[in-house]
Amino acid sequence: MAEMDPVNFDGAERLAGESPLRIENPALIPAARYYDDEFYRLECEHLWPNVWQMACRLEQIPNVGDWIEYSNVGKSVIVVRTKDGVKAHQNHCRHRGVPIAGGQGNAEGQSAHGNCARSGFICPFHGWRWNMDGDCTFVYGRHLFDEEVLAKDDLALRSVRVETWGGCAFINHNPEAPSLRDSMGPVLGALEARGMDDLRSEWWFATVLPANWKVAMEAFMEGYHVMKTHPQLQHAQPSLYNSRYGNETGGLGPLVNPNLSVRENVAECLHSMELLSAGMAGLVHEKEVAIARELADVDLPEDPQLAMMTWFGLVAQAITDKLRARGENVPDLPRAMQEHPLEAVEYLFPHYFLLTYFSSMSSYRIRPLGPESCLFELWSLTHYPEGEAPEPPREPTVLPFDSQDFPMIPRQDYSNIPIQQKGLHSEGLDVLRLSKDREGLISNYQRLIDGYIAGAPLGDLARATTKLGGNFDGPILDLEL
Ligand code: FES
Ligand SMILES: [Fe+2]
Repeated sequence: MAEMDPVNFDGAERLAGESPLRIENPALIPAARYYDDEFYRLECEHLWPNVWQMACRLEQIPNVGDWIEYSNVGKSVIVVRTKDGVKAHQNHCRHRGVPIAGGQGNAEGQSAHGNCARSGFICPFHGWRWNMDGDCTFVYGRHLFDEEVLAKDDLALRSVRVETWGGCAFINHNPEAPSLRDSMGPVLGALEARGMDDLRSEWWFATVLPANWKVAMEAFMEGYHVMKTHPQLQHAQPSLYNSRYGNETGGLGPLVNPNLSVRENVAECLHSMELLSAGMAGLVHEKEVAIARELADVDLPEDPQLAMMTWFGLVAQAITDKLRARGENVPDLPRAMQEHPLEAVEYLFPHYFLLTYFSSMSSYRIRPLGPESCLFELWSLTHYPEGEAPEPPREPTVLPFDSQDFPMIPRQDYSNIPIQQKGLHSEGLDVLRLSKDREGLISNYQRLIDGYIAGAPLGDLARATTKLGGNFDGPILDLEL
C-alpha cells in the first residue's frame, strides 16, 4: 500500500458529501468532528446503518433460546441463538412498536439478555408473542382486527443480517452491504490463524467515557503515546520504543539493546511482557509469561539480534506445546506468527479491535452514547481446555472510568481521553495534526467515515476498509475512494 503525500492527495474532493467538516488534508482532522451535533447526526445516518457491528460474544448466548439486546445510536437488535444458528431481529413489536425485549438502551453499560426457548418473546404492552425465529405465534383478541393488517409476513419480526466470526456475532442493518469477510479482508484469516475462534471471555469490563467515540478509538491507534502515557513500558524496553518512535535510527533492531548482554536483553524483554500482562491482562496472559520465564536462562547464539529472534521463537514454541499439553486448542504459534503476522492492535472498522501478542488477546468495543459520550467495553480473551472454560460473564462489570480496578494500561489511557475531549473545544484549535508515518490509521478511519457520509459505493468502502488491516502505527493511505 503506497504511502501518500498529503499535499498531492486529491481523493478528498471525491469524498465531498454534505459535511462542511469533511477532511481536506488527510494529516489535518477538523476538531469539531469530535463534538459537532450535525456531524454526529451524519454518522448516525450514514455510517452506523451500513457497517458490520460486533453485537455480542457468542458465549453470551450458549444455549438455544438465549438472546441478548444489542443497541447502538438508537437502533436496538435482538441477537438470539436458534436451533438453526444465530439470528438477529429488529427489536420492536409489530403491533405498535414497543421493544419486545429489553429496550432500555445501553447508556448504563448493561445489555438486557435472557432465554426465550419456553415462552418466546412477549410484548410488554398487549402481550403479542414471537418465537425465536421471529414468527408471530400469538395475537391477543385477534378478532378485533381486520385480517388484512395481520398478514403472517407482516407480523414476523424484521430480520437483521448477522454473521458469526471470531467468537462473536456481527450485525449489519444494510442488506446490500458486502459480507463481513469482504469488508474486513485478510486480517480475519490472520486472526483465525491465531486461534481467534476458540478464545473465550475471561472477564468483561465496561465504562462510560465523557468523550466522542472516535477520541476513545484513536487513543489505541498508535504506539507513539507509549513514551508519555505508559512510561513504564518504555522504561522496561527502551530499545523497542526508541527505535520505533525516537530520533535514533539504525541500531541492532527493535528487540535488541546494544548496550546489554544477550542475557540482559532477555531479562528486559521478559520484564516488558510482565508489565503488559499485569497492566493489560489478556494481551499477554500470565500463563504465557510464566512459560517465557522458564526460558530466561536458555542457551542462545552470541549474536544479539539472532539471539533475541531465537528466544522469541523458543518462547512461542514452548507456549504452544505447554498449553496444548494442558488441553488448550492453541495454534502452532511460531508458524502462525510467521505466516500471518499481525500488528499489536488490529481494528475491525468501525468500533471493535483486538490487541494481540501470543495466544491470548484483549478486545475492545466502543459505542457512541451521544456526540461527547461513549460506552467503552473491554474483554480479556484466552483459551481453556475443552469443558473447563469458566461460566462466561453475561454482563460487564461496569466501573467509573477512573476506577483503580481497571488494569493499569487502560487506566493510563482513560486519564487522557476525557481531558482531550475538553481540549478539543479550546478556542483556536481548528484541526488536529497527525504524523503521516505513525498516526495514519486515525486519518484513514476518519476519511473512511467521510466516504460513508458522502455515500460512496459500498463495494469501494469495503475495499477501503480491508486496507485498515495491519495499519496500526502505520502511514496515511490512499483509500481510493
Ligand atoms: S405494542 Fe406490542 S402488543 Fe401492542
Ligand atoms: Fe495506550
